[in-house]
Amino acid sequence: MHSPTAVPPSTPPALEIERGASLRAFNTFGLPAVAKALVRVRSEADVKRVVNHPELGIAPKFILGGGSNLVLTQDVDLCVLKLEIKGIRLLEAREDAWIVEVGAGESWHETVQWCLDHGLPGLENMALIPGTVGAAPVQNIGAYGVELKDRFESLDAVDLVTGRSITLNAAQCAFGYRDSVFKQHLQGKSVITTVRLRLPRPWVPVLGYLELERKMAETGIASPGPRQIFDWICEVRRAKLPDPSVVGNAGSFFKNPVVSAEQCRDIIGRDPEIVHYPLEDGSFKLAAGWMIDACGWKGKSIGRAGVYERQALVLVNRGGASGAEVVTLARAIQESVYGRFGIRLEPEPVVV
Ligand code: EPU
Repeated sequence: MHSPTAVPPSTPPALEIERGASLRAFNTFGLPAVAKALVRVRSEADVKRVVNHPELGIAPKFILGGGSNLVLTQDVDLCVLKLEIKGIRLLEAREDAWIVEVGAGESWHETVQWCLDHGLPGLENMALIPGTVGAAPVQNIGAYGVELKDRFESLDAVDLVTGRSITLNAAQCAFGYRDSVFKQHLQGKSVITTVRLRLPRPWVPVLGYLELERKMAETGIASPGPRQIFDWICEVRRAKLPDPSVVGNAGSFFKNPVVSAEQCRDIIGRDPEIVHYPLEDGSFKLAAGWMIDACGWKGKSIGRAGVYERQALVLVNRGGASGAEVVTLARAIQESVYGRFGIRLEPEPVVV
């Protein structure tokens, strides 16, 4: 990994434009689709060259990171920008936090590892989340009690209309549950090039999740360090989430729905077992995986798309599935959950 601010060569290489490019290898679901044009973006300057390009500049864009949160149901009649900006470095060691600057094209999990290897803890609960660093703020990734927004300083992005660089802080990113300004009004309008992570000092472990409490009880380790938590998270995730390099998938396929206290009481009245978590504002988050499981979907398939055997929230490609098959399965699940619980499940990945 190199510094993201490395000086570019004096004559930059021409943009690499691939017409009619297959996207199958670039989405973790392994779905077939062809892009009208695919451009590999390796620097902020490359993004600006795309904006100023006579043909690409005006073409509508689709921004592709690791393709781990994507369901391709058709060919993509857009200019796909594949973010490959590399680089990771410790930017600043403040008294209250380490600031780590990372290129958008770096792998998220490798970044978590790099930080641990350099004595910079704080990301361990988010180990093994697939995808790239640039995609992490888009849907405010999170796992086991920590979200990206809790470890975020700022990011740089390039406006795809003006070509201007902008820097956004956390408030400007408007992070929500698997949501940000990049899924709302900035969608398709700007490209994240660099992310600065904020790792608070002193390090404080986040151990409130049932699975981590279970590991502590099993091992008798009462005060685990960051490396221990990292190892446990990897074990927990490997036990219940499919490895996308083996079984095509996009992680959780649906968001966990948020309902009012009244709605929650109503559902508990009918289904006392339903897994639910109180939120600060008095509403409740329901476990979509539990509801899908309760509807009998775990391990089932429609065509070549299926529901993962060990976690009903994850849809998988059983081999050669099309995006249409995945969407058909997702709709059937939505209908049965609605029929039983009166809840409309919302997909988490971007469906194209
Ligand atoms: N459950 C079932 N059956 C299932 C699946 C889940 O009964 O088939 C129950 C579980 O026993 C548990 C509850 O539902 O009581 C919640 O399940 P789990 O703890 O596995 O978490 P989740 O709600 O399914 C969320 C995130 C994951 C994240 C985990 C851990 C969403 C949509 N998903 O999953 O994120 O790793 O919590 O923090 O918020 C992702 O976004 O792609 C993702 C994997």
